[in-house]
Amino acid sequence: MNEPLPGRSVPADTVIAIDGPAGSGKSTTARALAERFGLLYVDSGAMYRALTWAALDRGVSVQDADSLLELFESSDLELDPARRETRVVWDGRDISDQIRTPAIESNVSAVAAHPVIRSAMVDRQRAYARRRGVVMEGRDIGTVVLPDASHKFFITASAEVRARRRLAQQGEVPSEATLESVAADIARRDHIDSSRAVAPLRPAADAIQINTDSLNAEQVTDAVMTHIRGQVR
Ligand code: DC
Repeated sequence: MNEPLPGRSVPADTVIAIDGPAGSGKSTTARALAERFGLLYVDSGAMYRALTWAALDRGVSVQDADSLLELFESSDLELDPARRETRVVWDGRDISDQIRTPAIESNVSAVAAHPVIRSAMVDRQRAYARRRGVVMEGRDIGTVVLPDASHKFFITASAEVRARRRLAQQGEVPSEATLESVAADIARRDHIDSSRAVAPLRPAADAIQINTDSLNAEQVTDAVMTHIRGQVR
């Protein structure tokens, strides 16, 4: 749990929704906001990734919604936001590193496309926000999970900039990846995430949109904080 830094506080029940595609910079911003405001940080993508890991580990097909749901409901998934990088624990095992691999990257969109899985995840995500103020990041937080959030942001960047950022991150892309292959993979995932029938990736009508093509992480956080300060009464 984060303690608020002096002089930067927002009400303790503040709920901030941050959505956007992969590589837009939303995770860095969400973590920084949670730290500065002393709010809980919830990485909803990590939940879909964890279930994908468990399915691959146990040989459950990522197309089989009923078996995925059974797997999710019979297991214990914990997000421990105590450290800057959320630790993800599945049935007592820390899988934080295992959920950031190419195998998960290529299967997670299929898991996240099942309506029954989304509904189970949304229930869990709302429960986090009932306990206390949160910064929650994902694809559908402002539109579906927390439509009454105090502040909503939609963080974007061009496909090329996102591919460059992704390539610079160790581990998540195969070692032989090129800018072209990463850009193609991002385009594929964007397409699945934006065209699925339930909760597609799109900005909420009342979200503030920020394009981060020419901004570094600190500038994105500053831009978001400026909006929040302007809106806090
Ligand atoms: O943010 P991320 O890359 O860790 O998300 C992993 C996948 O989960 C991605 O394909 C989109 C999906 N996702 C989703 O559908 N809804 C969310 N709220 C968060 C992630």
